[in-house]
This record gives sequence, C-alpha cells and structure tokens, in this order.
Amino acid sequence: MVASRIAVLGRGVVPPTEPVLRGDDLGVLHGDGLFETMHLRGGRPWLRTAHLARLRAGAAAVELPLPPDEALVELLDSVSDGWPAPVEGTLRLVCTRGPEGGGLPTVYATLGEVRASAKRARRDGVTVATLPLGVPATARPELGWLPAGIKSTSYGHSSAARRWAARNGVDDVLWVSSDGYLLEGPSANVVWLDGDTLCTVPAASTGILPGTTCAWLLGHAAEVGLGAAERMVTPDGLRAAGGVWLTSSVRGLVEVRTLDGVARRPAPHTGRLQELLAFPLP
Ligand SMILES: Cc1ncc(COP(=O)(O)O)c(C=O)c1O
Repeated sequence: MVASRIAVLGRGVVPPTEPVLRGDDLGVLHGDGLFETMHLRGGRPWLRTAHLARLRAGAAAVELPLPPDEALVELLDSVSDGWPAPVEGTLRLVCTRGPEGGGLPTVYATLGEVRASAKRARRDGVTVATLPLGVPATARPELGWLPAGIKSTSYGHSSAARRWAARNGVDDVLWVSSDGYLLEGPSANVVWLDGDTLCTVPAASTGILPGTTCAWLLGHAAEVGLGAAERMVTPDGLRAAGGVWLTSSVRGLVEVRTLDGVARRPAPHTGRLQELLAFPLP
C-alpha cells in the first residue's frame, strides 16, 4: 500500500512526504513497536474495537506506554475524515518505542487504497507453499519471557518468507512447526473446513497472532450453518480438508487454490463466507 494520507498523534494530518519518525526512533533501529492494519469500509475501520484491544494487549506485553483509546480513535478519525466511502482503504496504526534514550512513543496512522492484488486474491484465490519455521508449535509461548501473539513492527522473518514465496513462484506461505503443525502465514491466519466445522489454529498455545478476521468469521460461522473450532492440523490434514482459506484484515478471506504445488478442488462456501465478511469483490 502506498499511503496517500498520514496523521501523527499531536500533529494531526501531515503531508505524506513529511518526515514522521526521528532517525533514532527505536521502531526504526530495533523494530521495537506495534501496529495494526484495518480494513476501511464505508469510510470507517472495520473491527476497530478488536484491533485496539489487540494493540493494547500487545502494548502490555512489551511494556509500551500507549495513549488512551480516545486519542487513538481521534487519530484514526482524522486520517480517514473525508475519505470517499465507496473506496476501500488500508488503515494502519503504528506505535513505536520512540527515540533512543527515552521519550514518548511515536504514534501515527496511514491510509491508502487497497491494492488491486488483494482484491484479485479474493476473486481468484492464492497459491501457497508450506515453509518450515524450525521451532516446535508450542515452544514460543512456553518460554515465558518472549511476548507471543503480538503484532510487532519487527517483521523481518515475514519479509524473508515473502521473498522466498516470490522466488519460488507462490503467492503466500504457511509456516510449519518443527513437530509438524501448521501455524500461520506471514500476514494471515489459516482456516479450513473439517466436515461442517470451520477450524483455525489456537493462538494462545502456539503464540501465533490472534487474527481479528478469523475470530470474527468463526464467531459468525453459525450464520452460514457451520460450526467453529480451534484445532491443530498437520500439512496432510490440511491437504485432506474440504476447503482451505487464508484470512486477514485487508484481503479478507482468500481461498487456497494450490497447496505445495497440488491444485485443490474448489472449496464449498467460499462465496458465502466472503458475503458474510462483506468484503467487496472486483
Ligand atoms: C502474522 C499474522 N498472522 C495473522 C494475521 C491476520 O490477522 P488479522 O485478521 O487481524 O489481520 C496477520 C495480519 O497481518 C499477521 O501479520
């Protein structure tokens, strides 16, 4: 997304070319910060409350002092004020640790149009490969000292996975633990169909990001006659599933059409689930 608007806490909307961060901000130096990405629909951020709650939980875990929710909401309102309601937006809220040696977090919001590739993925689905992560599924939350399930600006391993995907001719990847369980993708959760049950990976025991989109989807699965459950799954289990999807805030729900080079049968329910989530299709 190329941000067409930027607003900074304490400064309001600034020209997008104007510097926002200091060179010694720990968000830049160490990737020490948190962010949320929201889908702007009808000019308003979808699931804003859930995103702010996840940000606050992450901030508590990394001891990042956040401004009150009212200030964050005001910032989001200021950047999206006057945005044309029919245009889908990608709205980011970023909170860095702030300048090295002390100082307040730098808090800003960016807004731009949803990329055409995200809309195409909703319509056409994606090709996905599994990629080893090299740690057992429950190792990270078990450590105790390592904050897990936070949306950190430290996205180096996600960027590396994306480059791996591009080099290997796939749209996306799903990480697999060293003990053989699917975890998540670099920017998405995995959802699959087991009989009439929509399943996803438990976030609390694995330390993956608790996705706002998949939580909402599973919370509303009954509206399309499906059950919902959190389960562990192996790559073989996923291959045998009736349907496999990735969920995330901006793409919404995209069907996995090819997994590890093997084309999948079209999944049932993709259209109904996308309707339920109400993401526009191209
Ligand atoms: C690692 C990771 N997992 C899952 C997700 C999906 O979360 P959400 O549905 O809240 O966008 C994201 C979103 O960017 C992510 O970065």
